Amino acid sequence: MDVGILGGTGPLGRGLGLRLAAAGASVTIGSRDAARAGEVVTSLRDAWPRQLAISGAANEDAAARDIVVVATPWDAVVPTVRGLAARLEGKVVVSVANALVKQGREMHALVPPRGSMAGAIQAELPAALVAAAGHHLPASALEDLDQALGADVLVCSDHPDATAATMALIASIAGLRPLDAGSLAQAAAIEAFTAVLVTVNIRYKAHSSLGLTGLGHV
Ligand SMILES: NC(=O)c1ccc[n+]([C@@H]2O[C@H](COP(=O)([O-])OP(=O)(O)OC[C@H]3O[C@@H](n4cnc5c(N)ncnc54)[C@H](OP(=O)(O)O)[C@@H]3O)[C@@H](O)[C@H]2O)c1
Repeated sequence: MDVGILGGTGPLGRGLGLRLAAAGASVTIGSRDAARAGEVVTSLRDAWPRQLAISGAANEDAAARDIVVVATPWDAVVPTVRGLAARLEGKVVVSVANALVKQGREMHALVPPRGSMAGAIQAELPAALVAAAGHHLPASALEDLDQALGADVLVCSDHPDATAATMALIASIAGLRPLDAGSLAQAAAIEAFTAVLVTVNIRYKAHSSLGLTGLGHV
């Protein structure tokens, strides 16, 4: 798979990019500053000296890959994809963004335009196939290749091809089980639940993720 990550220099983009590259994907870490992306990739290669098909580039180049993950902060998501709309036409675009705000020792979910960040991206990019996934994955665990993962990843989209491609991407990472959670309307609840999960993690000083029971046959 050929994956580009917009805003890939942050913890989530680095971790996901590293895991995907370790799984055999060709990954482009995107940034507003190509040099910064290059530095991040060098630091990842130094930390994990093995054969990885990972490179750094401007967001414009990352947006030219087959599947594009949007991994900027939530309030930068729409402006970022707006500037790349022509490149993202017809592509699977995966949103990992959670619109959250910290209130004391809790995270609270905000309600973005269209009800979710994924919905806001789909509205901005009507010609793209938007999926939402990965909201509950702790970046710190992704970025540590020595750490075994064990989590369920809820995937939703209005486009069956985007659901299938995103589930395949997630399934390629050892220890992650993608689950088809339905249409993009589900992204509102999926994103908002992250506030609960992060609050639990703050209280218990943990990096927990999501695991559903009763799906042993999947
Ligand atoms: N961190 C987690 O554990 C986690 C888990 C699940 C989902 N998420 C979601 O994943 C996304 C990324 O999280 P993160 O913690 O990696 O975020 P982050 O470090 O705050 O930002 C990621 C990258 O976005 C770029 N960026 C920052 N401000 C921008 C702006 N105004 N316009 C355009 N690009 C900007 C920066 O890259 P350049 O300066 O190189 O352009 C930055 O390195 C968020 O939407 C978050 O909700 C995070």
